[in-house]
Amino acid sequence: MSVETAARQDETVPAPGQQLLDVADLVVRYGRGRKAATAPAAVDGVSFSIRPGETVGLVGESGSGKSTIGKAILGLEKCSGGSIRYNGTDVTHASAARRRELGGELRAVFQDPNSSLNPRQTIGASLAEPLRIRGMAAGEARQRAEDMLVRVGLPREAVDRYPGQFSGGQRQRIAVARALICEPRLVVCDEAVSALDLSTQAQVLNLLADLRDERGLSYLFIAHDISVVQFLAQRVVVLYRGQVMESGPAAAVTESPHHPFTQALVAASPVPRPAEQAERRQKREALGVRTAAAAAAAPGGCPFSQRCPLATDLCRTERPVLRTVGMSAVACHYA
Ligand SMILES: Nc1ncnc2c1ncn2[C@@H]1O[C@H](COP(=O)(O)OP(=O)(O)OP(=O)(O)O)[C@@H](O)[C@H]1O
Ligand code: SF4
Ligand SMILES: [Mg+2]
Repeated sequence: MSVETAARQDETVPAPGQQLLDVADLVVRYGRGRKAATAPAAVDGVSFSIRPGETVGLVGESGSGKSTIGKAILGLEKCSGGSIRYNGTDVTHASAARRRELGGELRAVFQDPNSSLNPRQTIGASLAEPLRIRGMAAGEARQRAEDMLVRVGLPREAVDRYPGQFSGGQRQRIAVARALICEPRLVVCDEAVSALDLSTQAQVLNLLADLRDERGLSYLFIAHDISVVQFLAQRVVVLYRGQVMESGPAAAVTESPHHPFTQALVAASPVPRPAEQAERRQKREALGVRTAAAAAAAPGGCPFSQRCPLATDLCRTERPVLRTVGMSAVACHYA
C-alpha cells in the first residue's frame, strides 16, 4: 500500500457503527431563486444510509428522482433541504474545493460511458487523468491504468486505444476502471448496466460484485429494474415521485413487497424464461395498478393514490408516513 493510500485510509475509516453515507430528509427542487422555492420537489424528504462495504439499491420508474439523488450526493446538484453526511462530515453544501478533496473517495459510473470518456483521448490518458491531478508521476499513473484495465478484464494494450474502438460492454468496464482508479470508498452507479444486453449485464454486475468484495467498496446502485438491483444490493430503497415508498433488506423488499407500488415494480421486472413471463403478466394485471401516465396525486395525500387499486379517501387526503412492517419500512396506510 502506498504512503498516500495509507494516510487517506487512516483519515477515512469510519468509527465503529458509523455510516459511510447518511442522507436525511433530502429535498431537491430544480430551478433558481423564486422559481426553485415554488417548483415541485424532484426529491421530497428522502432518507437512507449506506454502511462501509454495503450496497444500497435505489429503484423506481423514470422521473422518480433516482439520478437527482445520485447527483446531490456527488455534489452535482444543489440540495434545497435536508442533509448529506459523508463519513461523518456534513457535505450538504460543501464547496467545490471540498468536493475535490473527497473526489477520490466518491466516484460515479453512469449509463453512458461516453459521458466520462473523451473520444479524442486514449483510454490510458482518461484513466491517468485523476491520478495526474493528484500529482502522480506520468509513468506510475500509466502503470496504474494498465493494472486497472487488466483487473476489469481488458488487455494491457487497451491503454493506447480510443473509446470508439471498444464495444458497449468493454466501454462500461473502462468506465468502472476509471471510477475505481483513485481507490474510492463509495461509487454511485447510475443505470450502469441498463444499456447492456443481458449476458454483458451479468458480466459487469459480477465484476462490480467482485471489486466490492475485494476492496470493501460501498455502492449506491441506481436502476429502474428491481431484478438488477436485487443481484447486487443488500438493502433496497423504492422511490415514487421523489418519495420513499418502501425500504428494507433486499430479500424482504423484492420477495415479499408490502407496498402496492413495489408489488407492481416486482411484477413488471423481466424474467429470463418465457413461461414465467406469462405468469408475471397475469400477476401484474391482477394487481390492477394504473399506468405511469396517471395524473399526479393531490398534494397532501399518498403520491401513489391516483394509480393504486386500494386507494381510499384517507389515501387521497393524508400522506402515509414510513412505518415498520415486517423487516421493512413502508409508506402505506394499509400495508
Ligand atoms: N435539470 C433539470 N431541470 C429540471 N427538472 C429536472 C432536471 N433533471 C431532472 N428533472 C426532473 O426531476 C425529476 C426527477 O428526475 P431524475 O432524472 O432524477 O429521475 P430518474 O429517476 O433518474 O429517471 P430515469 O429513470 O428516467 O433516469 C423528473 O421529474 C425530471 O423531469
Ligand atoms: S396509502 Fe393508499 S393509495 Fe397509497 S399505496 Fe397505500 S393503499 Fe395505495
Ligand atoms: Mg436517471
